[in-house]
Formats: sequence, structure tokens, C-alpha cells
Amino acid sequence: MDCSFLLKFFFLHIVLLFGFLGDNIMYASEPQLTLDYYASTCPTVFDIVRKEMECSVLSDPRNAASIVRLHFHDCFIQGCDGSILLDDTITLKGEKKAATNIHSLKGFGVIDQIKNFVESECPGIVSCADILTIAARDAVILVGGPYWDVPVGRKDSVTASFELANTNLPTPDESLVSIIPKFLYQGLSVTDMVALVGAHTIGMAKCENFRSRIYGDYGSTLVKNPISDNQFNNLKSICPATGGGDNNITAMDYVTPNLFDNSFYHLLLNGEGVLNSDQEMYSSVFGIETRELVKKYAADPLAFFHQFSDSMVKMGNITNSESFVTAEVRKNCRFVNT
Ligand code: HEM
Repeated sequence: MDCSFLLKFFFLHIVLLFGFLGDNIMYASEPQLTLDYYASTCPTVFDIVRKEMECSVLSDPRNAASIVRLHFHDCFIQGCDGSILLDDTITLKGEKKAATNIHSLKGFGVIDQIKNFVESECPGIVSCADILTIAARDAVILVGGPYWDVPVGRKDSVTASFELANTNLPTPDESLVSIIPKFLYQGLSVTDMVALVGAHTIGMAKCENFRSRIYGDYGSTLVKNPISDNQFNNLKSICPATGGGDNNITAMDYVTPNLFDNSFYHLLLNGEGVLNSDQEMYSSVFGIETRELVKKYAADPLAFFHQFSDSMVKMGNITNSESFVTAEVRKNCRFVNT
């Protein structure tokens, strides 16, 4: 048996049993990113991204959620290198058709449009990976979330990994015990994980991703009251147990679906998490540390905002030193340069 797996498993048990270890395990690798990387070469890049994100979120608030998720899915596969943006070609198998991404990941058109504007202003200077990272920060601000400074200087990969997209990304029906190592592997702590998942305060989920939850333990985690009963019935009508509806969608935070706030954590306290993986953070018997964090962020919105900002910077700093050497600034985010 693979020893690294055994080691990870042993370590995870320690983390779960003695939650206090969770925060000091690993750190995201130190990348060469700085706040003023484009100060002389493309000083307007932050303004361009901000302006385009304003238009796109104004036209559809869901774009904010889609861009934040796109950034997360980029960073978890060979670092934040724009690999998620690559289309399939004869010589390259991209990540877009991986199980968690296909028919679900959105926002590619928004990034294309921003890239076009940035290219016309400063051709060949700003990477797609940086554009996506800045856009994710602006997305959060535009729906009421916290501000943070975005270190830049990422490069775009010349490769993608369909395989890693299938293995590294967490799925909604995975247990906490299996999701935590996926964050630790990226150098992100349990605290980072619980804060980052707070991004589910915005955006939508498809029936196929929450059917097993609502016909599973939703009824038993629910703290019943007339509103929550109503919402439970609503979810069942959106997502029938059988007979289709896989692509029907619901907000993960039905209280304030387009506002970046801490109400997602209140839903977890009420047992109303739409995704199984979300509710586990509060209800799992293994969630000793995660449960306390959920309570903390529900009680203290500022603590959530501070931690979310810090954890987004940490996630955005996941780099892949190998691909950094061969990487480039793509002209078109969908294709490597020829
Ligand atoms: C525990 C790990 C996570 C799991 C299992 C998970 C799973 C999911 C699933 C299944 C959806 C719905 C997709 C669909 O039905 O089309 C979703 C949506 C979303 N996720 Fe996560 N996620 C996780 C962590 C994160 C993190 C760390 C972030 C960002 C920092 C994030 C941001 C989002 C956003 C914003 C949406 C809404 C996207 C939209 O409306 O287009 N998620 N996630």
C-alpha cells in the first residue's frame, strides 16, 4: 500500500481527534507574487477588471459566484495557473470536462471579455491566472463581501490536468474525513476550509448535487420551524427523488442568495445546508474543529470576513513551481500560445 496515504490517514485522525493541530500543518508554497507586479507594465489592469466585473455582476449577480468558483477550481489543480480556462484541443485534454466541472462550471465568457480589454490596453503582459484571481476578489466585493489586496505575477500554464481535476476537487457527497485531506494537500488548513466554503453564501447548486442530501439526512439535521419546513418542501419540488430535474437549480443560501454575508453558517446551525459536504462541517461526528468554526462565523461576521480574505490570498498563492518555469502569458485564455 502507498505509504504516503497511510501517513496522511494517520495524520488526519490526529487532526480530527485533536482539532487544535488543524491550523499549523502546512502552508501554501511561497510564490513570487507582489502587489505592484504590473505597476509599470500595466497600471490600469485592476481598474479594467473591476469595471468589467461591475458590468457582468450587474447584468447577472450569479456571475460573481461563478467567477469565485472558477478561481477555486483553477487553484486546486496544479496551482493557480489558468489551467481551468484551457479548452480541449487535439493535443491537450483540458479540465472543463472533469466530473465536478462539466455542465456546471461557468464564467469563462466573462474572463474572455476581461482578457480582451486587458490585451488591447497592455498586450502580452497580464496572465489569465492573474485576471481570474483579481476578478474573484472583485466579485466578492461587488456582492457585499470583504476587500483584500491581490498579490499578482502568476503565469499561465501550458498544460492542464483532467486527471487531477477528477481527483483533487472535493465533491458534495464526500465525507468530511475525505475532504479535509484535499485542503491540507494544498497547504490549506481546516480553518481555511471552513472559511472558504463560506463562499456558498452566494451561487447555485444543481439538483443532482443535492438530491442525496434532501432525500438522505436533511430531515434529521433540520431544526424544524414553519419557514424551514417550507424550504424543505421547496427543495423537494425543485429536485424530485426520481424522474429527472437533475439540472434544476437552487440557491445554496436561500435567505440572502445574492449577498456575501455569514447567513450560510446560520443555515448550517439550522441543519439546512443544501450540500451534504456543507452540512457535515457542522453535523459530522468527526467535525470537532469544524463545528466550532461554523459557530464562530455564524456569531461573528467580521471574523468570517477576515478569515475569508486571508484564506483567499492563501488559496490564490498556491503555485506550481514546475509549471512556473515553462509557463507564459497566454494571448487567449482558452489556448496556449502557438
Ligand atoms: C468542501 C469543498 C467544496 C465542495 C464539495 C463544493 C461543491 C460545490 C458544488 C457541488 C456546487 C454546485 C455546483 C453545481 O451544482 O453546478 C458548488 C458551487 C459553488 N462553490 Fe463550492 N464546493 C466546495 C468548496 C468551495 C470553495 C472553497 C469555494 C470558493 C472559495 C467554493 C465556491 C463555490 C461557489 C461560489 C459556488 C456557486 C457557483 C455558481 O453559482 O455558479 N466552493 N460548490
